[in-house]
Amino acid sequence: MTSAEDFDRWYADRVSSPVADDLVQRLLGLPPDLQSTSLLSGQGLDEVVALLALSPGEVLLDLACGRGGYGREIAQRTGCDLVGVDFSPVAIDQALSQGGDFRVGTLTATGLDPATADAVLIVDAFQFASPKLSCLRECLRVLRPGGRLAITTWEALDPEDPRLPLRMRQVDLTRQLPEAGFVDVEVTHKPDWWAIEDRFWRESLTVEAGDDLAVQSMQEEARRVLEGFTGRRRVLATATKGSPPG
Ligand SMILES: C[S@@+](CC[C@H](N)C(=O)[O-])C[C@H]1O[C@@H](n2cnc3c(N)ncnc32)[C@H](O)[C@@H]1O
Repeated sequence: MTSAEDFDRWYADRVSSPVADDLVQRLLGLPPDLQSTSLLSGQGLDEVVALLALSPGEVLLDLACGRGGYGREIAQRTGCDLVGVDFSPVAIDQALSQGGDFRVGTLTATGLDPATADAVLIVDAFQFASPKLSCLRECLRVLRPGGRLAITTWEALDPEDPRLPLRMRQVDLTRQLPEAGFVDVEVTHKPDWWAIEDRFWRESLTVEAGDDLAVQSMQEEARRVLEGFTGRRRVLATATKGSPPG
């Protein structure tokens, strides 16, 4: 599932599944109204908020924002302005239904003007970027000098591991972020996040799916993910757009 049409169907099923949303909120420990379609826990979100250190009036781009839950929560906590971009029009419609600035665009072409964001956040979507460097260069383009980037994603322990999708095996942020032009690059492995996710997938398989398409799809994903789960590591990467010399 990688096209905008695939994600449109996924979001259309999800809107009618409070069971899936309840499961995510409970197992990831998220604030009650945060609509997530990823695996970033409440604890992980707190770490990201601290690292981005946004101030009131600064602009956050939540890239591949889905329904916009994380960006909206960060804007509420920090007073920053939020713009969300995702390539799924259905996700963007769902985000817009709660108000705010949400737009259709891609990981490699956001449609934003250059140097308009103080921070860019990509939660659990960088693995879909193709090519990876184009996405990072797009982030660099829309950031102001000194602007911050935070990415949560997964990397393969062994890039040849056939259990993992190629898109994940192509994530190598320690190499890719400096290559794209970022400075102050830090890539942290998060075994505690990995453990929360492991529990999430296992518990999702114990729910009665019935004819709930979102839960069915979550359980299909759980089986697929758990097969190669020991071959992946959870990653939080941060980096800065350097200021021009002089
Ligand atoms: C796992 S979801 C995460 C959504 C959101 N960041 C969250 O954490 O709730 C991945 C998101 O990436 C978006 N996506 C995938 N490929 C994309 C692309 N090439 N350009 C823009 N968005 C993309 C999907 O539509 C989906 O909303």
